Amino acid sequence: MTADEMKKKAAEAALEFVENDGGVIGVGTGSTVNHFIDFLAGVKHKIEGAVSSSENSTQRLKAHGIPVFDLNATGELSLYVDGADESNRQLHLIKGGGGALTREKIIAAASKQFVCIADDSKLVDVLGKFPLPVEVIPMARSFVARELVKMGGTPVWREGFITDNGNWILDVHNLQIMEPVKTEQQINNIVGVVTVGIFAMRPADILLLGSPQGVKRVE
Ligand code: A5P
Repeated sequence: MTADEMKKKAAEAALEFVENDGGVIGVGTGSTVNHFIDFLAGVKHKIEGAVSSSENSTQRLKAHGIPVFDLNATGELSLYVDGADESNRQLHLIKGGGGALTREKIIAAASKQFVCIADDSKLVDVLGKFPLPVEVIPMARSFVARELVKMGGTPVWREGFITDNGNWILDVHNLQIMEPVKTEQQINNIVGVVTVGIFAMRPADILLLGSPQGVKRVE
């Protein structure tokens, strides 16, 4: 079974969390979420619409005729469905491989339940093998990079990539993130950092992992 088929299985399993209450749900970004959006189209009568974490997801939602709302107009969301680049067993995540981490973190914070969908290769013992994305204000890139080096990381500028918020991304290699909450707070405190891709202060609530044996659920 390919990784994409496993992603698709996890995405389909997340439909179970879409309540029949006509509410607005949060929708993340990435190839796994793209499958989720395609499945969501089949049950769109159940929801009023979605809040989207990226221009890419917004386009896909709209192409399926699913209305997209501004988070400022919706209040708290009951459900957020998004992928991840890595997860540990505490459901602390690394996100931002697709560069949408800031909007993703805002929607996760504004949602009651965060269901994370992924293929089972994303489950790790220690976060950090996947280079940690950090969104920075462009003029602070070099300063933030020096601070990240002091923490033991090797930041690499994702050159040519501009986030939906007009900022830049540093991908930090060689970090072994033993204390995700502490590292998230530490990097948040560097001036010029917009968002760090560690989702530990607000972890996922449920992780659905697609695997050749079916969908595993970690809570
Ligand atoms: C987007 O910025 C990321 O946080 C994604 O959730 C992450 O990269 C997962 O992507 P895939 O679903 O494509 O693996």
